[in-house]
This record gives sequence, C-alpha cells and structure tokens, in this order.
Amino acid sequence: MPGFKGLAVPGPTNMPFRVRQAMDIPLEDHRAPDFPQFTLPLFADLKKIFKTETGHVFIFPGSGTGGWESAIANTLSPGDKVLASVFGQFSMLWADLCQRFGLDVDAVQAAWGQGVPLDQYRARLEADKSHSIKAVLVTHNETATGVTSSVSSVRHILDELRHPAMLFVDGVSSIASIDFRMDEWGVDVAVAGSQKGFMLPTGLAIVCVSEKAIEAGKSATLPRCFFDYRDMIKANAQGYFPYTPTTTLLRGLRASVDMLLEEGLHNVFARHHRLAGAVRAAVDEWGLRNCAQAPRWFSDTVTAVLVPDDCDANAVIKTAYHQYDLSLGSGLNKVAGKVFRIGHLGWLNELMIIQALGGAELAMLDCGIQIQPGSGVGAAIRHLSQAGQAMRIAAE
Ligand SMILES: Cc1ncc(COP(=O)(O)O)c(C=O)c1O
Repeated sequence: MPGFKGLAVPGPTNMPFRVRQAMDIPLEDHRAPDFPQFTLPLFADLKKIFKTETGHVFIFPGSGTGGWESAIANTLSPGDKVLASVFGQFSMLWADLCQRFGLDVDAVQAAWGQGVPLDQYRARLEADKSHSIKAVLVTHNETATGVTSSVSSVRHILDELRHPAMLFVDGVSSIASIDFRMDEWGVDVAVAGSQKGFMLPTGLAIVCVSEKAIEAGKSATLPRCFFDYRDMIKANAQGYFPYTPTTTLLRGLRASVDMLLEEGLHNVFARHHRLAGAVRAAVDEWGLRNCAQAPRWFSDTVTAVLVPDDCDANAVIKTAYHQYDLSLGSGLNKVAGKVFRIGHLGWLNELMIIQALGGAELAMLDCGIQIQPGSGVGAAIRHLSQAGQAMRIAAE
C-alpha cells in the first residue's frame, strides 16, 4: 500500500529520524579508550529522565521484562514476601514473574480498568507489623487497560505507616512520557524499556536503582548473573559494561535523551497530556467508553477503547491493519475482543493523532459500529485547537 504505515500501538512507538540516523553508523569498539567519554555523560543525563540525584541508572540488553527480573533478582531472597496488584496483563505478568522466582506474592486482584488498590495496599501494609513485606510493586501505567496509578500515593502510605518495604515501579509505558520522580517518590527500582517513551527499537531494559535497593542486594540470595547490578556498578564507574553492550542502541539512546531534554521533560509530559486529551475527546464523541474506569486513572500514553458489547474489537483492529495500514493495539487477555488500544506516546504530534483517530473511525464504520463519521476526529480537532490556543496565550 502506498504511503506511510500508521503505528498507533502503545509500543513499539514511532522512531524519530534523528534517532535512526544516530544508529546508522559502523559498529564500534566498546572497549575503546574513548568509549567512556560517550557513556559517562549518557549515564548522567539518563538520571535527569528518572529525576534522580542519588539513583544508579543501568542499561541492560533486554526488554521491560528483563528490567522486572533485574529488580527481583538483585534485591530479594527466595520466600520473601512482596505485595503486588493485578489489574491488567502487565501487572499480572510481573506478579507471575515474582511467583516463578519463588517469592511469596500477595497479589491483590482489582478490576481491569482500575488502578493500584490503595486502600488494600494500606490495609495489607498496616497489618504487616513484623515488616515481612519486603517489596511493594506498582505498575505505574498499565498498558493493557490504559490506566495510570499514583506512585506518590503508595509512597505516602509507606511513609505514614513507617513501613520499610522497597518500592518497585514498572514505568515501561510511563517513563519519558508521563511525569515520573524517582527521588521525590522514594522509588527503589524503576523499570523502563527502550521501545516506548524512549522512541527506540526494542532491546534495552533501562532501570534506575536506589542506594537502598543496592544495599538490600548485599544480603539478597536470589541467583543473578546477567542482570547483576554489582557487575554493572563496577564496570559503569569506568564507563564500560560487564559484557558486550548494544552500542548501536546506545547511540540511538543518546539521540533520544538529547531530544527529550531539548524539548524539556515538562513539555514532553504536556504534549502527551494534550494528545491524550484529544483521543479521550474522540472516544466520548463516538459514544464509546474508556476502559479506564475513572478520570484519575486515564493514561496519557495509551487509551483502551471499549467497543459496544455486540461488536468485536479484533475485527476493528484487523480492518484498520488490512484496509488502512494502521496498527491499533489489541486487547490482551481479559479484555481481548472488547477493546482496541490507541497508543499515544513517543514521537508524536497533533497530525499523527488525527490520522490514527481517522483510521480508527474508518475501521469502526467498516465493521458496522454506529458512530458519526468525523465525530471523533472533529472532537479531537476542537480539543487540540483549544489546547493550542491556551498554550499560545500562556507563552505570551
Ligand atoms: C507496563 C508494561 N510493563 C512491562 C512490559 C513488558 O515489556 P517488554 O515487552 O519490553 O518485555 C510492557 C510491554 O508492553 C508494558 O507495557
């Protein structure tokens, strides 16, 4: 089909030309004497993305799942208790990973479409007088349902109860797109991946680790090798890696971090919020529902759109793909067939959002879903026009 393919899934995301160009280079010697001149500033700038002064950022070859594994394997021992919550595919998989590692997982179940169940977290932590819970897991942005949870609220609960558990955050679909504050929220391990807000190909697990978590690692006995933070700390201090790094991706990461910092994180978050607002305006105008059950959970990186009960969301996704060269995200597990997802993160602007919404409308109409043609696109344009005007007035 002529023309660009539309990529409106919540990762992998669209890759900027600048990032592609940065990676279009010959392979290089990762033990070269001047390699640290490239890596050390990169490590330092990554700390700005995580908003940390005291944390360590590690870049592993891998993906978000590897980042989860690193958090567990480096800090905990078999049988340790962790408090998790399951309200979507990714929060479920992280809890499952913990179980497979032989941890004692208290996985609080919540409706898919809700966020971290704060009341239940508080009750569990309050009842844990002996402090047997060693880590609390938070999926900051549940990509399967388009739900963002409040990490700071979980921090607040831990502080209020003076509970010493570590706080682990899955920020795979939030970090570099939605506000995230490692130090301020007292996060002990934050996990990101390269293929979402960082606008890179898949292939890196980027984690940020607190001193407290490094300290916990000294007595933790789960086996670790590839993801061992101690090896990373040692090698990274000299600007090197304990094994062959993905130098090409690191060059891309350099460009992506530059782009994020040049735009300014605040502006990056504001852009995501503005574009997400356009998608939500479209969903409302279509007369459809957001899978996220309340505005406080609405995600600025992905919206899962519930189709009417008698419709099949997979048909919409297939039609968008085959007829219009547009990839929409599919519903996973419990919400399979019920939702299609629009990813709105990464290298994205107003026109790309309107294109994705137009494609979704075409596909829904082809599938017999009763929406008014142009209604969602129109609502998005109204939203973006108003938001743009407000921005211009604020800048004056
Ligand atoms: C919130 C979240 N966590 C974890 C993962 C797993 O990451 P990966 O597929 O990069 O291993 C994903 C993937 O989409 C995700 O969205």
